[in-house]
Amino acid sequence: MARRKCLLFVLATLPVFWVFWQLSHMDHAQTPPSPPEKNLHYLRANRSLVHYLDNINILIEPSSVCQKKVPVLVLVTSTPSHYRHRDAIRNTWGKHQETYFFRGLTQDDDRMADAYIEAKQHSDLIVHELQDHYQNLTLKVALMLQWALHRCPRAEFVFKTDDDVMLNPRTLETVLEDNNGAALFGYKKENIVPDRREYTKWYLPRWLYNEELIPEYLLGSGYIINGKNLKEIFSAALHIPLINIEDIHFTYLVAKRALGLPLTHDRRLSPYKPWIFTCPYKNYASVHSLSPEEMDIRNCPQFANFGFRKN
Ligand SMILES: *[C@@H]1O[C@H](CO)[C@@H](O)[C@H](O)[C@H]1NC(C)=O
Ligand SMILES: *[C@@H]1O[C@H](CO)[C@@H](O)[C@H](O)[C@H]1NC(C)=O
Repeated sequence: MARRKCLLFVLATLPVFWVFWQLSHMDHAQTPPSPPEKNLHYLRANRSLVHYLDNINILIEPSSVCQKKVPVLVLVTSTPSHYRHRDAIRNTWGKHQETYFFRGLTQDDDRMADAYIEAKQHSDLIVHELQDHYQNLTLKVALMLQWALHRCPRAEFVFKTDDDVMLNPRTLETVLEDNNGAALFGYKKENIVPDRREYTKWYLPRWLYNEELIPEYLLGSGYIINGKNLKEIFSAALHIPLINIEDIHFTYLVAKRALGLPLTHDRRLSPYKPWIFTCPYKNYASVHSLSPEEMDIRNCPQFANFGFRKN
């Protein structure tokens, strides 16, 4: 009798443990070291995007891109050391749409040789002459948009995302259809208080943005720009003083505030990792914060429906 009670107790508490386990594995798997504010000092000298773009060269890029009309061009912010993330994407959802990775340089760039090899092997890597630091992410995204305008001007949609995001090509197709007329769509946040804690990744100092709230913006883990609006967004960005938070900058300050473009919320472009791991996340077009191992869902039972090639 006691044994049965004990067993029941264990069974009853299992879901609780499971929830905790999921929660503890949910977010910020690789939180980077905290940045002292001095990393932002380059913006004190000049916040004009033109000033930077004129001085940043492309060191590596594929020789030919966008041969045909592209329904969705995926631009992934990556970083030199994340070659495993890039490979996980190449082996899964990257096969299903035109996908390019953008990285800068590290201090001791002995990885440049690796970059040439990787670029030659996959023809999907763009290396800019820019310090690869997340306080420079706004510059990186500006470079990505510029590259897309020059190299792939006929893309119907441009999807800006990160290398720890898993995309579901099937659901994405539906999301694109549903938002066909929208200028920008993604996961929308409203009336957000800027992070004023100096040692966080999302620190937004008052000297860059002095208002109490950010009325609305689309989260940078995955937002989509209609190809028709790309040029006006990029052109406007040349004249808006830079801030360090990329998604607030492009979707709010440039698109919404300066151009008056509406930001459309679509919860299927999720910045979260679902609590319940229902592979292959068919209710989402994208999910965030995945390790390369989690992304490699080739062993997923529903895999066949997903359209990934099984090795
Ligand atoms: C950002 O990039 C600029 C231009 O390449 C550079 O001068 C600056 O040091 C970079 N900032 C960080 C934090 O790496
Ligand atoms: C900032 O950049 C603009 C545009 O390139 C340039 O005209 C201006 O002289 C720069 N200012 C400083 C202080 O470098």
